[in-house]
Amino acid sequence: MKVQENISLKSFNTFGIDSIAKFFVAIKSVEGLKELLFLQSMRKETKLVLGGGSNILFTKNYNGLVIKNEIAGIETIKEDAEYIYVKVGAGVNWHSFVLHCIEHNWGGVENLALIPGTVGAAPIQNIGAYGVELKNVFFSLEAFEINEKVVHNFSLNDCAFGYRDSVFKNKFKNQFVILSTSFRLRKFPIFNIEYGAIQQELEKNAEKKLSVKTICQAVINIRKSKLPDPEIIGNAGSFFKNPEISSEEFEKLKVLFPTIVSYELANGNKKLAAGWLVEQCGPNAGVTWKGYRVGDAGCHEKQALVLVNHGNSNGKEIYNLSEAVLETVYQKFGITLEREVNIF
Ligand code: EPU
Repeated sequence: MKVQENISLKSFNTFGIDSIAKFFVAIKSVEGLKELLFLQSMRKETKLVLGGGSNILFTKNYNGLVIKNEIAGIETIKEDAEYIYVKVGAGVNWHSFVLHCIEHNWGGVENLALIPGTVGAAPIQNIGAYGVELKNVFFSLEAFEINEKVVHNFSLNDCAFGYRDSVFKNKFKNQFVILSTSFRLRKFPIFNIEYGAIQQELEKNAEKKLSVKTICQAVINIRKSKLPDPEIIGNAGSFFKNPEISSEEFEKLKVLFPTIVSYELANGNKKLAAGWLVEQCGPNAGVTWKGYRVGDAGCHEKQALVLVNHGNSNGKEIYNLSEAVLETVYQKFGITLEREVNIF
């Protein structure tokens, strides 16, 4: 384990922001993590755990210790007639884990293909896409408590998963390092293809038998057609969450904006497509944010929810753009969007 000083985080965050970390360490095991946290010289430093850096925007240098989680390994822990239980190291790339499941025909994560990031970061914001969330396949996780220096086991209930939310974004924010996540996957997959875009994509290859593989490929195709590849253009996926409002509020908005895009939730509330809200607003009258660019900061041309770094933007510029977007959405719809991406 080697503590490095003044390290650029540019290649460690998918926005590609050139923020400098005062200290930086990559850890590959819980022993390495313990060794690091027991170092007297690191005790007082504020700490930030990075997975794939795919849900973070650095707006300044990080004046503390960045711990890059590189704990590897995928192992089957048990199985029964219906399920297989798999424990995965927090540093494993999420999509490579999805592909591992597809290879074994294990069902549950095929709709979550191609989400950037690591297996350890996935529970923190309960990643989700195309009608499936991580909590649907979650079994348990192990996490190291930074202050007490002990390993805890978290069950599904302990994690308090919500829409892009968990206990690790709230009560336990920055207090734990996730070491591994365990999943409960179906040996005889049940497919979730309710989402309109998936159905349309599957229809293009209707001759192919429905399988986790064909669904995974459909999701990959949809994502590639709509979302920018962070390897090519810096971004952190959806920058804002889709807001939830009551049906009464919704009815009022629908009168003013008849084409507003929404989904009904089980509790009777409505979820609004934030991408649609953002697309209706812009920096000036008659101009939309969608595809807008100021310097190297911008709003993606195919998905207005995704803010992008066209090259050399700094985090402040992207943050300022997000403020302007928030302001105009509030002015037009009276709705305050919440950021999904963590700001540092
Ligand atoms: N829409 C627009 N304009 C846009 C974007 C979207 O009008 O620029 C409308 C369209 O009507 C579209 C609808 O919004 O049909 C929904 O768009 P999309 O299917 O792209 O989904 P989303 O609600 O914008 C959410 C997640 C994505 C996830 C997709 C698919 C959030 C914040 N985002 O986006 O997750 O991939 O659904 O399930 O919930 C992420 O979290 O980083 C992420 C990319």
